[in-house]
Amino acid sequence: MKLWGGRFKGGTDKLMEEFNSSISYDIRLLKYDIQGSIAHAKGLNKAGVLTDSEFELIEKGLNAIIEETDMNKIPDDEDVHTYVERLLTEKIGDAGRKLHTGRSRNDQVATDERLYLRDVVKEIKNDLNKLINVLNEQADKYKDIIMPGYTHLQRAQPVTLGHHFHAYVEMFKRDLSRLDDMYKRVNVMPLGSGALAGTTFEIDRKYVSSLLGFDDITLNSMDGVSDRDYIIEFLSFASIIMMHLSRFCEELILWSSKEFDFIELDDRYSTGSSMMPQKKNPDAAELIRGKTGRVYGDLITILTVMKGLPLAYNKDMQEDKEALFDGIDTLEICLKVFTGMIKTVDVKIDNLERAAKHGYMNATDFADYLVSKGIPFRKAHEISGKVVLHAIDKKCAIEDLPLLELKKFCDAIDVDVYNAIDLKNTLKKKKTIGSPSVS
Ligand code: ARG
Repeated sequence: MKLWGGRFKGGTDKLMEEFNSSISYDIRLLKYDIQGSIAHAKGLNKAGVLTDSEFELIEKGLNAIIEETDMNKIPDDEDVHTYVERLLTEKIGDAGRKLHTGRSRNDQVATDERLYLRDVVKEIKNDLNKLINVLNEQADKYKDIIMPGYTHLQRAQPVTLGHHFHAYVEMFKRDLSRLDDMYKRVNVMPLGSGALAGTTFEIDRKYVSSLLGFDDITLNSMDGVSDRDYIIEFLSFASIIMMHLSRFCEELILWSSKEFDFIELDDRYSTGSSMMPQKKNPDAAELIRGKTGRVYGDLITILTVMKGLPLAYNKDMQEDKEALFDGIDTLEICLKVFTGMIKTVDVKIDNLERAAKHGYMNATDFADYLVSKGIPFRKAHEISGKVVLHAIDKKCAIEDLPLLELKKFCDAIDVDVYNAIDLKNTLKKKKTIGSPSVS
């Protein structure tokens, strides 16, 4: 017997039953469904709908369901809510049949999702903090290691590896603040919205919300049951952080190629080839880069599901869960794998420093030096360009050109130029906040 069976004469088509069912994935919400149901029962108790002993029976019965459920065996019910109600009624009889008073699966499922997402946010915050700590340690370790900084993937100006790592710390700190901000909107309780129009029972929503640790309650019953912004916000956050991880992975992949040869990824995060015995492939980094597309897909799924839905609840919304769960699982494993990979990376310091010496990356400092001698920057830029062209011709660095040769480009150039364009000094001289100055 279906819990909505009263109005029906005939049964459901077998394939339709399978099609309609969400239990294979929403069973993940069991713990939260029960948490929400206990609080709702307490609300009914306070409203005089349930006696104290009925409430106690329900609470005991619900707690027993958590313990008895084998999460690896999918029950034969429509969804997690139906499963819990059926089992509870089988256990305790009529008191179980009273639990759904003043409630709909519509406000129930939205409450379950928010309760679940709250825990997810906490776990991801933890993982993100671990990653930031590891990156800060790495940034500190390599704070004086000079390497090429790139624009257009062409050598541009010297930076330090520490500065490069710190750039990602900044990104992940922004992700953390997005997470905190989003949490405020997740931690609001829709329970009490009913199917879409509230309920005639005098349920003290604020009381129920305080039992569940929500900061607030939703203020419009139609919005309460049909809002999925919290999922969209979470998946937007997940997409942005995956984009950051993916950019970093792209760099690690490039850096571990023989062409760059800046790093070697640890064996623990690399794999080999079935045919080419010499291969060591950066599979962890590539998979994270690839899975970024998958998380974007999860976000686009929900945005697209939601875009044409009239108020209030529509069954389309059942489609929110698989995308959300996939986004969560993917992000969680990517964060953990990435943290291990970056923690164990072997940096080829000599290669980084050697690379920094090539590519005329002190040409801007050379121009800045001329500015210090009173030459307007645009003119200094032109002189510096000509010196670079000359050095390219001679197949040497700017600092390899003798003073007399340099003076031919501009008489203001003096012997102090060599100090001014020395790589380490160029970094030491960076004055602005946020620049890659070395100690
Ligand atoms: N399994 C449903 C979902 O996930 C629960 C809500 C069903 N509500 C309804 N009126 N059919 O969205």
